[in-house]
Amino acid sequence: MIDPETLLLRDEMLPGVVRLTFNRPDKLNALSSTMLAQLASVLEVARTDPAVRCIVLAGAGEKAFVAGADIGEYQGGRNAAFCAYQIRSRAIFDALETFPKPTIAMVNGFALGGGFEIALCCDTIICSTEALFGLPEGRLGLCPGGGGSQRLTRMVGKYVASDIMLNGWRISGERAYSLGLAVECCAPEKLEQAVLTRARALLKIAPLAQKEMKRLISEGADASLATAKSLEQEVLFRLYTTRDAQEGIDAFLEKREPNFKGEERFD
Ligand code: COA
Repeated sequence: MIDPETLLLRDEMLPGVVRLTFNRPDKLNALSSTMLAQLASVLEVARTDPAVRCIVLAGAGEKAFVAGADIGEYQGGRNAAFCAYQIRSRAIFDALETFPKPTIAMVNGFALGGGFEIALCCDTIICSTEALFGLPEGRLGLCPGGGGSQRLTRMVGKYVASDIMLNGWRISGERAYSLGLAVECCAPEKLEQAVLTRARALLKIAPLAQKEMKRLISEGADASLATAKSLEQEVLFRLYTTRDAQEGIDAFLEKREPNFKGEERFD
């Protein structure tokens, strides 16, 4: 019997850098409804908690990040329950994608189905040479349900996405890196250090600027170039009115480190 309290572990890798660890290693961290609900409630609180600057998602044990949705919960053909689970998990994945602070997927071992989809919702994927990414839902007679078929295709294009989905093919960490999915692929024992190095860098960037740049990247990608450029300018004008922008500019000219507060308005 799994203690629901421990399905999602939380620790601080650095002040402000919160790691959430999917914790069902005996089931390769397969995503149960309880685990997803815990993820949703942690994200909801962390959205507005100024003490949280970055979320890192990881899997417990050495074999998996997350090996997908808990297939056990799919058994029995209960259509209403299945649809409710899918609608709920899609909303949680969307909340992760639009989370207003940087998110990092720290992937070691299997990142399959919902596990890969979670990584695709993060801003950054850092993986180990032991990582294996895939969307094998076709083997169950299903297709991805957490946005994976669309996010992956937009990321890597039709042919690689077809190769991964239609063949149920798994790609290695090195391949994910060469495709531009992962920003770094290192030995498993160096994974935590690689994540910390990036986390330290992103703690130096103004939080409001990060929030707005996230929006530019995701909303801009689906807009026309002209609309996206207008959005960029609108965001820049707004950022200029923040205290943090004035602090960043002053700090540069005064040759000191900025002290960003994340406050919305200049006065
Ligand atoms: N849902 C529920 N249980 C899962 C799971 C999932 N997505 N993935 C793995 N598990 C469980 C296995 O049933 C097994 O449990 P058991 O020890 O009680 O039998 C345990 O995790 C270990 O998995 P196992 O299959 O024995 O490990 P393996 O190294 O031989 O194979 C995988 C690893 C990842 C290739 C294989 O587990 C797998 O194909 N998992 C399903 C992946 C998938 O289809 N994901 C998309 C779901 S929509």
